[in-house]
Amino acid sequence: MPSHDSRVMSAALRSKIMSAEDAAALVKHGENVGMSGFTGSGYPKEIPLALARHIEAAHGRGEPFRIGVWTGASTAPELDGALAKVDGIELRLPYQSDPVTRERINAGSMDYIDIHLSHVAQFVWFGFLGHLDVAVVEVAAILPDGSLVPTTSVGNNKTWLDRADRIILEVNSWHNPALQGMHDIYYGTQLPPYRQPIPIVTPGDRIGDTTFRCDPNKVIAVVETHAPDRNNTFTPPDATSQAIAGHILEFLGHEVRRGRLPPELLPLQSGVGNVANAVMAGLESGPFEQLTAYTEVLQDGMLDLIRSGKMTFASATALSFSAEKAELFNRDTAMHKNRVVLRPQEISNHPEVIRRLGVISMNGMIEADIYGNVNSTHIRGSRIMNGIGGSGDFARNAYLSIFMTPSTAKNGTLSSIVPMATHVDHTEHDVQILVTEQGLADLRGLAPRQRAKVIIENTAHPTFKPVLQDYFDRARRGSTGQHTPHLLDEALRAIHPVS
Ligand code: COA
Repeated sequence: MPSHDSRVMSAALRSKIMSAEDAAALVKHGENVGMSGFTGSGYPKEIPLALARHIEAAHGRGEPFRIGVWTGASTAPELDGALAKVDGIELRLPYQSDPVTRERINAGSMDYIDIHLSHVAQFVWFGFLGHLDVAVVEVAAILPDGSLVPTTSVGNNKTWLDRADRIILEVNSWHNPALQGMHDIYYGTQLPPYRQPIPIVTPGDRIGDTTFRCDPNKVIAVVETHAPDRNNTFTPPDATSQAIAGHILEFLGHEVRRGRLPPELLPLQSGVGNVANAVMAGLESGPFEQLTAYTEVLQDGMLDLIRSGKMTFASATALSFSAEKAELFNRDTAMHKNRVVLRPQEISNHPEVIRRLGVISMNGMIEADIYGNVNSTHIRGSRIMNGIGGSGDFARNAYLSIFMTPSTAKNGTLSSIVPMATHVDHTEHDVQILVTEQGLADLRGLAPRQRAKVIIENTAHPTFKPVLQDYFDRARRGSTGQHTPHLLDEALRAIHPVS
């Protein structure tokens, strides 16, 4: 165990320092555990691994040991991967992107509740998800008064600390102590009918504390660690993602020229993945200055915008950097602190704030149908990929809601534009702009049949355009409902290119 005693400054909590192995032994079969962690950052590094060893040993003795795992969003192989591998997770929520976890969910041996990330806190407060037994939360330091300095993600940690019966803290000395002061933990949320407006009117507004409040009597263990986040790697933007970024930039420029956006745009929200990252990289060389973000995660591309001065401020709930950028941010934390704020996800994704700020949301998707319904989560309608994450929080409430994808998947064998989406996360009402490398479909103000024309024409891959056009033409002739024409006996069939 490393001895970084300066990070545990509360005498009362210093007496609770123990090994990860001993701390993990305090978690019992059948309990619900709220863990920190959001898109590969700020998750506990050692306790989940130790817990996985306990679970494996229990299974070896023929004893049942499975827990409910609640987090902010996706975590890392040391958490999701390790616990899923030993079949230790009974129920997972609210978002994941781990291959082993995904496999178990799709095999039917792990339950998964995929919910809007902004909903989790109130679901827990109302008890919709059951009882929260234990919180396992990574922090950068425990201050003398027992308050906690968050690390690289805030996620649902406030809610876990407030609602769990027992708390286990991992104090990770890898994080730069200068992180203290970067967070904004709002303690003003109420339950209906006592809710008050969330007083954020610009992305940089600070409305809360810089640390988590924590009842020391609930803390049953403190574990000291020294480990970096296991972050995503991003592939350099390829021709497809550069083309998608190009269409979006051109469109934003057009909106500025029409007077529908200010020259510095409106606060940006950028989703997860390589395409979203490429759009941020595109903005780096684009004409827009003084950009801001009110987003969920800050990926590499957005950090570059901040470092180059193109972006003046970013509000998020988590950092999700590659290893290289994580090192850079950790080194220069003090410099970034005035331009970045991390908030609880119920605030970073708060519908009221997103609507007020007029956010421009840009999210990835799996497929869209010819009428603009978007599937972000399910392959062929039944196999979960990741989850809806915050995409619904942003898309429904944004000033501009943009969804993007390459026009084909699986080496060009599948079209991402389909007659009818096999699963719908974002209905046609929440989808304003669709973009592929082929082009952009602006669906605002269009009726369903007009939308189909623009979507097929502008976004479908040439290989699939004739098949989609043929479907639409036949539906228009054969369907009894001409508002949104479909041929239901073939609408969900996988489509193949015309040879
Ligand atoms: N049909 C079948 N499979 C498809 C597909 C399609 N139309 N489109 C994508 N896929 C598969 C890809 O082949 C890939 O599978 P693989 O990992 O086995 O190769 C996988 O889906 C991911 O696709 P990829 O092209 O790598 O996309 P991405 O990294 O940009 O992610 C989403 C796309 C939709 C999965 C991702 O954006 C997501 O999880 N979104 C929901 C959550 C969200 O939006 N969060 C941000 C809110 S703040």
